[in-house]
Amino acid sequence: MSSSSRDFEQLWADLVPVGRSAASGGYFRQPWTGAEVELRAWFGEQAEARGLAVESDGLGNLVAWWTPAVEPVETRGVVTGSHLDSVLDGGAYDGPLGVVTGLAAVDRLRERGFSPSRSIGVSVFVEEEGSRFGLACLGSRLVTGTTSWEQARELRDRDGVFLPDALERAGLSGGEGLPAQWNLGERVDCFVELHVEQGRDLVDRGAAVGVGSAIWPHGRYRFDFAGQANHAGTTRMEDRHDPMLSYAMTALAANKQARLVSTGSTSGGGSTSGGGSTTGGARATFGRVEVAPNGTNAIPSKVTAWLDARCDSEDALTTLIAEIERLAQERSGRDGTHLIVTAESVSPAVHFDQALAGRLAGVLGDAPVIPTGAGHDAGILATAGIPTAMLFVRNPTGISHSPEEHAEMADCLAGVEALADTLEELAR
Ligand code: GLV
Ligand code: MN
Ligand code: MN
Repeated sequence: MSSSSRDFEQLWADLVPVGRSAASGGYFRQPWTGAEVELRAWFGEQAEARGLAVESDGLGNLVAWWTPAVEPVETRGVVTGSHLDSVLDGGAYDGPLGVVTGLAAVDRLRERGFSPSRSIGVSVFVEEEGSRFGLACLGSRLVTGTTSWEQARELRDRDGVFLPDALERAGLSGGEGLPAQWNLGERVDCFVELHVEQGRDLVDRGAAVGVGSAIWPHGRYRFDFAGQANHAGTTRMEDRHDPMLSYAMTALAANKQARLVSTGSTSGGGSTSGGGSTTGGARATFGRVEVAPNGTNAIPSKVTAWLDARCDSEDALTTLIAEIERLAQERSGRDGTHLIVTAESVSPAVHFDQALAGRLAGVLGDAPVIPTGAGHDAGILATAGIPTAMLFVRNPTGISHSPEEHAEMADCLAGVEALADTLEELAR
């Protein structure tokens, strides 16, 4: 076993207990709270121990630079990295795998005696999951100017805490002037994010590592159903205006409509994945619901539910959302409730730099090139015009955003090797 393999295993072991729930075995690493703050401090220590120069911004986004000994001709660097925050009760790999393999790849390149001819950066972007403030990839959105600080400063978490206040409590100054501070176009030549696969494409193809081709367009939509609070025992069934019923039918309709798209009964234009692919079609999920007043013996006054929807083309996503909203409004009308739908964040389709993906697939011994339905900081950087690539590491069950998310150690080490090969190719 090479010493960098041992390094990876040690780094990984450091992270295992941080933010882990004893009850479920899952992780709660919400941004600017205990576990996530601890992880970013850990990253800073590890980077410094490797002699990398750590930069932080007012959000806590980090990049640790390995600068060539000789003044480089090419001043723009190659950056790799991912995120350290998790969804609520998430897995160990989504995010941290891309950060830890970044550090281990630096170790591996040094072990090989490689001297980069341009800087290599290892980065950490904050609030990638949007688990606290609702907007996925908040850190990379602010760095690229995809979302402005004026918009972001209005975001509130579930306890009503405004983003600037959460940052101030974490000792951070905020997102003022971030795109200029990062100056990505001048400083970053290309970005590579390694990530655990969140599906079973690599299992089906018998490959430990793959290269990303595209990210499906996706969005988060808030459904506010307002009804009339009333007594559960005395209100006749025909006299009710129950927003729970409007929501319940909407959840079933969303599931049905997404299945219809996936089985090809409806269609919505060009696809990022190719017809018949096991990854094709559409997904619709209501994973978060708030009920007011949330009492057992009262008809609710209000139900708020969040729809996460994704499709293999933008036309299909637009059609799917319109159809779900039409059915929800129809049901609301029948229930005598009132519905407002708000798009909280919508991300367009991402097609990664094809030439770069092909080049990396070649370097990695003809690795498969696959699309994904999951969102990533890499997608935000690609949309902002930075040549970007992704590497995926096989996940034996495909399960993700769950305590059961997993990757075998041998595949993680294959990921380190693949990332080292990639960085060597790009920073030669
Ligand atoms: C992030 O993992 C997302 O796809 O929601
Ligand atoms: Mn995720
Ligand atoms: Mn992720």
